[in-house]
Amino acid sequence: MSINLKKIKQLSLCIILQGGLLLNNRSTAQTVQSKGLKDYYKDYFPIGVAVSPQSLKDPQQAALILSQFNSLTPENAMKMGPIHPEENRYYWKDADSIVAFAQAHGLRVRGHNLCWHEQTPDWLFKGADGKQVTKEVLLKRLKDHITAVISRYKGKIYAWDVVNEAIDDDNSKFLRNSLWYQICGEDFIVKAFEYAHEADPNAVLFYNDYNTERPEKRERVYQLLKKLVDAKVPINGVGLQAHWSIYEPDQKDLIETIKRFSSLGIKVQITELDISIYPWEKNKRSLRPGESDAYTADLEKKQADKYAEVFKVFRDYKNVISGVTFWNISDKHTWLDEYPVIGRKNYPLLFDQNFQPKKAYWQVVNF
Ligand code: XIL
Repeated sequence: MSINLKKIKQLSLCIILQGGLLLNNRSTAQTVQSKGLKDYYKDYFPIGVAVSPQSLKDPQQAALILSQFNSLTPENAMKMGPIHPEENRYYWKDADSIVAFAQAHGLRVRGHNLCWHEQTPDWLFKGADGKQVTKEVLLKRLKDHITAVISRYKGKIYAWDVVNEAIDDDNSKFLRNSLWYQICGEDFIVKAFEYAHEADPNAVLFYNDYNTERPEKRERVYQLLKKLVDAKVPINGVGLQAHWSIYEPDQKDLIETIKRFSSLGIKVQITELDISIYPWEKNKRSLRPGESDAYTADLEKKQADKYAEVFKVFRDYKNVISGVTFWNISDKHTWLDEYPVIGRKNYPLLFDQNFQPKKAYWQVVNF
């Protein structure tokens, strides 16, 4: 263990130095070297990244993480399916290894997530008879799950995405018609926050969702948040997932969203930031014949400009934005390589496939 950590530290230093040389070669205007995103933004908010346990074992990626970020989110390891595969069995190993890495290096951890309609374990909604469970049973299961997971990491995880993506995709509807909703009605949301608060009164608790800048969705998320706040449910913040693209959101919609949500007296975090080079699509499909996934200079520039635009807004609203987290480390691998289009490469992050800073990176740190 100690040898590994030493190696990682040496490598991170190496990368920082390389970064400095790179800067020197690129531009004389660059005066400050050996800095990472977290350092440029130290007077603003923590800068996080979604990770897998495997990425932390890879010395190059671990070094990049340590030089750039000061917060981690487990990309999958704490979701209910992976961490609680059977009713009476938890699988802690992956989640533990991420928290241990964070502890060893003084990084914060955002827990993700406690209640979601995706990546649920098979046993969750069914009883021993194979039939759907009652509301009472499901809420008891939710409570046991939340209590066990939060308690294990109490004091080591400062914030939790308690409920994820509960608003419907259909603009004419309110809550998503998930099994959570079908079995428990709206109560599962309130209860999830109450159970989480009970398990760790110091944890900062979030509702987290995507497309929150689109006016139709924004309004419905606002309604939900307002209901919770008015009912004195222990919610502290809202996560804008920020799975964006070079086409959206525009600055006006982003600002409106931050203002509207924070007017409720809650914090805003950017929880899953990436800027796709393709327009938003929801349903999975394969790459069509002749469809290009080339990362052209034009796309790279548009992406850098979009990154500059959104970070300008984040800085302007630093009084309500308490964290910005990227969803994956570099373009070498991103979840958008498989979703929504299978077999199409995406390039949504600030580091390229060789872990080098992209144009967008320099736009984000030069302000
Ligand atoms: C994604 C992961 O990145 C993938 O590895 C996994 O296959 C599916 O989930 N919104 C969320 C995240 O809240 O948990 C999702 O993460 C991306 C969308």
